[in-house]
Amino acid sequence: MKRIAVLTSGGDAPGMNAAIRAVTRTALDKGFEVFGVRHGYAGLIAGSFVPLGVRDVGGIMQRGGTVLGSARSAEFRTAAGLEKAIRQLKQNGIDGLVVIGGNGSQTGSYSLAEAGFPVVGIASTIDNDLCGSDVTIGVDTALNIALETIDRLKVTASSHQRAFIVETMGRGSGYLALMAGIAGGAEAVVIPEFETEPEQVAAEIRRSYDRGKPHAIVVVAEGARWNAHALADYVTQHKARLGFELRVTIIGYMQRGGAPTYQDRFLATRFGAKAAEEIAAGNYGVLVGLSRNEIITTPLAEIVGCQKPIDPALFELARVLSK
Ligand code: F6P
Repeated sequence: MKRIAVLTSGGDAPGMNAAIRAVTRTALDKGFEVFGVRHGYAGLIAGSFVPLGVRDVGGIMQRGGTVLGSARSAEFRTAAGLEKAIRQLKQNGIDGLVVIGGNGSQTGSYSLAEAGFPVVGIASTIDNDLCGSDVTIGVDTALNIALETIDRLKVTASSHQRAFIVETMGRGSGYLALMAGIAGGAEAVVIPEFETEPEQVAAEIRRSYDRGKPHAIVVVAEGARWNAHALADYVTQHKARLGFELRVTIIGYMQRGGAPTYQDRFLATRFGAKAAEEIAAGNYGVLVGLSRNEIITTPLAEIVGCQKPIDPALFELARVLSK
């Protein structure tokens, strides 16, 4: 094998650039030619390849986003789209592909692997919902952004004795909300994995005020049935009885932007180097991830369609510490 390509797909995650750099430089060091694919699977279908040399990936590690661009491609999910992508890979003489992305992107990797194309995935999503890795690229930065938001809101909440809701991203997963809630000292955490009713949240806030706290922070995952706006609307409707309002801050895409933390740069670097090594060793159809601080590979067949569970003990910890 002589030529490999690398692409970033799905929602961008801080640290993707460090992964691109590590894949490129490790593969070049092993004697491969390396190509970047612009804009994920959409670019693959369009045949948008750019050669990557050692200097092309210099100065990118500290930048958020992805220098290759990303996309969510509906066409790639069709049989015709997959066929076009494989045709482009073959026409451009690409012998192996590294896919940096989350659940949807690795489902795409699996389709390529099933079709017989040599592919290695790298676990990258701020949501941390991907099986096959304890933690994924972007999670640490996203959590630090959530923490900064919570810390700032606590200041203004304390000045006014107000209650705030902070809504994190995470799609169907409550991981970001739960971890930010624990590390940020939230009074309540609402996540899709454990149903919480608005009256329970209101009771937690009431208890916080009764204990003499000057603020109340509720961290809510975007995928929870009672998301930030739904909860705030409920509390507003019952304001006369409850005695407070909930002001809403949605962190949203702020969690995906910004410079990656040390943790994300280092994780992405380890993942990128390992992916290039796996390609060189002929170990395809796998996802590169982290388990107990070891870099591991897991067959894509085992991670596709798998939703990483939330540890109930952590949810309980958030409750216990919210006093
Ligand atoms: O998967 C990452 C993520 O940021 C989720 O947390 C969020 O639900 C989703 O992507 C947003 O998707 P899009 O970028 O397509 O709006």
